[in-house]
Amino acid sequence: MMGLQSRSPKTVVSCYDLLDLAVTGGIEDYTEGIYEGDINRAYKGAQRAQGNYLLDEVRCCKGSYILDIGCGNGTLLELVRERGAAGIGITISQAQVNRCKSKGLEVYLMNYKDIPAKWDNQFDGIIANGSIEHFVQPQDVIAGRQDEIYRRLFEVCCSILNPSSESSRFATTTIHFNRKSDPQDVLKSPFSFPRDSDQFHYSLLNKAFGGYYPVVGQLERCAEDIFELEKEVDGTIDYQLTSEHWLKQFRKAVFINPAFTARLIGKIIKRPYHTSAMIACLSGPQSWAWQFRTDNAPTKLLRQTWRCSD
Ligand SMILES: C[S@@+](CC[C@H](N)C(=O)[O-])C[C@H]1O[C@@H](n2cnc3c(N)ncnc32)[C@H](O)[C@@H]1O
Repeated sequence: MMGLQSRSPKTVVSCYDLLDLAVTGGIEDYTEGIYEGDINRAYKGAQRAQGNYLLDEVRCCKGSYILDIGCGNGTLLELVRERGAAGIGITISQAQVNRCKSKGLEVYLMNYKDIPAKWDNQFDGIIANGSIEHFVQPQDVIAGRQDEIYRRLFEVCCSILNPSSESSRFATTTIHFNRKSDPQDVLKSPFSFPRDSDQFHYSLLNKAFGGYYPVVGQLERCAEDIFELEKEVDGTIDYQLTSEHWLKQFRKAVFINPAFTARLIGKIIKRPYHTSAMIACLSGPQSWAWQFRTDNAPTKLLRQTWRCSD
């Protein structure tokens, strides 16, 4: 897949190169689990519940053919396989492709923008579990391209769904802004803002992960006449619980997992600026977990199920 990475934002590619470390720290998933109010539910059980929820939403069963856009380390594709269905994944991370292949999964290093025309009408279900947050960058928002990017995503997804399958669905999980950030501010240094202000955290998050969120209702507006929103569930508390688990796991790994610490030091030497921003997001100011905390959380996680418009 020559040249594809050149179309993917450098920060996002580098972010998942860094987050490959999480696997050494015992974390394979990069999105929230589902706790159903049970704060004592085991992390892995919650992750499995999320995977199964999404597969139920796209009616995945024996014989289905599923595409996972932004498949991470392939945990959802493993569940697809457990159901006797077939699935393929795309990701912009070579480390993820390698890990998925080592699990016997069919995964390509591919930006969703490069989904080939030969995939038209092929899939019974599509899932984008936590990838849409990376598809728009603050520079796109400043240039007025945000809506156009989401609309194009919906067009591509509608064209690759099997039109003769009544049950074809697109399921997404996406962090949305409750309190929107100014894209110009996001591009500034976090230290231009008071610590713990929204601007400080959003800037730090962008330096670590790359990307920009939609506001509530924006995806539905951009999908108009292409997809109808069939179902929407608020999973913000689930993301809060998941993020607090990641935080604990990160600290534990730093102190008691020498392989993790050695790899972390290697990353700091290779990419000091990006790795420091990532560490700050996960620990220190904890900008990652900040997004989902309190009743007045600055963001909202929405699980949405879409059906092609007639
Ligand atoms: C937050 S992670 C979620 C991974 C996985 N779905 C999970 O739940 O663990 C986002 C994923 O989106 C992928 N991604 C980001 N931008 C992408 C793009 N433009 N095209 C395809 N995949 C992309 C990343 O490589 C990563 O696998």
